[in-house]
Amino acid sequence: MLEKIKEIRAAMERELQEAASSEQLRELKVKYLGKKGSISEISKSMGKLQPEERPKAGQLVNDLRQALEQNLARRQQELADRALQAQLAKETVDVTLPGRPVKQGSRHPLTLVMDELKEIFLGMGYTIAEGPQVELDYYNFERMNLPADHPARDMQDSFYIDAKRLLRTHTSPVQARAMDKLCPQAPVKVISPGAVYRRDDDATHSPMFHQVEGLVVDEGISLADLKGTLLNFVRQMFGEEREIRLRPSFFPFTEPSVEVDISCMLCGGAGCRTCKDTGWIEILGAGMVHPNVLRMSGYDPERYTGFAFGVGVERIAMLKYGIDDMRVIFENDVRFLQQF
Ligand code: PHE
Repeated sequence: MLEKIKEIRAAMERELQEAASSEQLRELKVKYLGKKGSISEISKSMGKLQPEERPKAGQLVNDLRQALEQNLARRQQELADRALQAQLAKETVDVTLPGRPVKQGSRHPLTLVMDELKEIFLGMGYTIAEGPQVELDYYNFERMNLPADHPARDMQDSFYIDAKRLLRTHTSPVQARAMDKLCPQAPVKVISPGAVYRRDDDATHSPMFHQVEGLVVDEGISLADLKGTLLNFVRQMFGEEREIRLRPSFFPFTEPSVEVDISCMLCGGAGCRTCKDTGWIEILGAGMVHPNVLRMSGYDPERYTGFAFGVGVERIAMLKYGIDDMRVIFENDVRFLQQF
């Protein structure tokens, strides 16, 4: 019996040492400790021993079981450590390498200019009015004093949805919508930023572009108020040294109408390529709200007067950032966008 125990112990230690995977360790556990395992067999045969031999043998069998359990755990740990070392040797991680930068986006130049425009006018006490991009012919043209067959409609050819609706050609229809909402309240003092659409496409025109409309209606509003407002806006946007110039123009919805130029910020008025040697750059259309437009919105033109203006946002962005082709604004090339 004692011999037998010694034999088992020797064999067990050898096999444990040879085991090369946790699978093999599990098999050994069954082989020795399982129901039909050698240790269980030996325990069963204890009954055949003389009573005085039993304690000694029992002690030995217990030692054997304990030794096996401890060794199994130790080998298991050894195998796991070895596997980890092997993996670390394969996958080298250089913790001193610089991290990968997280790319940070920037705001689109149009958004920047739009936000700045809003800030300037909100600072002058304007509120924001909105209108739909799919607009009724009625607001886009009729209410802007451009009845059907008016020749000035040709200048703003657009994309029609059906006979009555089109993609708005300017933000001016929001003038009528705002007045409809507010009349008979006064003053009306709103700006309306947004996308507009025309059948144009070249280096300085895009079929979709953005405008900010401005409208003020109250008693006693004059062209001087318009000029002062625009001068203030231009100086905040392009610098304190800027001057403005008003040239007579025509819009069916304003009378008189003006085209507004700013003194060239590149040459300071001396003449250069950007201002085509004139010293002036055209930036917006404006005028005194036509009495017909006021009347259609419910305001008595004998009592109320107003001014309106429409600024091209892309145009402002191009001038401010020196962009010479409008199309790059919409191409979304990161090499362009990263610069803002
Ligand atoms: N709506 C005009 C345009 O798009 C601009 C404008 C607005 C002119 C308001 C006068 C008054 O060309």
